Amino acid sequence: MVVAKIAPSLLSGDFAKLADECERMLSLGADYLHMDVMDGHFVPNLTLGAPIIKSLRPHTKGFLDCHLMVSEPERWVDDFAEAGADLFCFHIEVAKDVKALIERVHERGMKAGLAIKPGTSIEDAYEYAGLVDQVLVMTVEPGFGGQAFMGECMEKVEKLRKRFPDLDIEVDGGLAPENIAVAAKAGANVIVAGSSIFKAKAPEEVIALFRKTINE
Ligand code: DX5
Ligand code: ZN
Repeated sequence: MVVAKIAPSLLSGDFAKLADECERMLSLGADYLHMDVMDGHFVPNLTLGAPIIKSLRPHTKGFLDCHLMVSEPERWVDDFAEAGADLFCFHIEVAKDVKALIERVHERGMKAGLAIKPGTSIEDAYEYAGLVDQVLVMTVEPGFGGQAFMGECMEKVEKLRKRFPDLDIEVDGGLAPENIAVAAKAGANVIVAGSSIFKAKAPEEVIALFRKTINE
């Protein structure tokens, strides 16, 4: 059985205090630290890259779940491995050879994740889901935090869960206390959340609620 893993998105944190924000989230119950890497090309926003991960690495033992929203994920495997990323998640829409890239990520000692945008059909991911450590089903168009959760993506999570009962299925975008039950019912177990955790008065309560809802 899969268990809940809660992954606050540091995109909603204070980048000037990144290491402190990571430690704060871990102390409040986070399992993963979700790092949104955007290249201003695959998505219309620019965030951080391997140098930041490298600087952060000595300051946290947290699991760095790196979500690469970049046009050429192949280019960045070595840099992220050397920076100390724990998981390298790339988008199926842009990978030149998905299987080869998964193998390379594993060879470099990282876990591999495969992400799909809302418009991409889940069937496209089936042949790779058994090869990766995690599949990320986006629940907003990638690019920005604070967007509304797209409930229609839950059908993809349901289909994937039926075929892969033990797979870590991550959902990302607009997750909040009001929709966590829907995501849990569909079969998601790795929950990314930026705004709903960082803007909460008591982020630890949001994290605990997510965990309880997924695990019950
Ligand atoms: C969006 C990013 C998300 C984002 C989630 O492209 O992949 O990880 O930070 O933020 P919220 O939870 O605010 O939608
Ligand atoms: Zn993300």
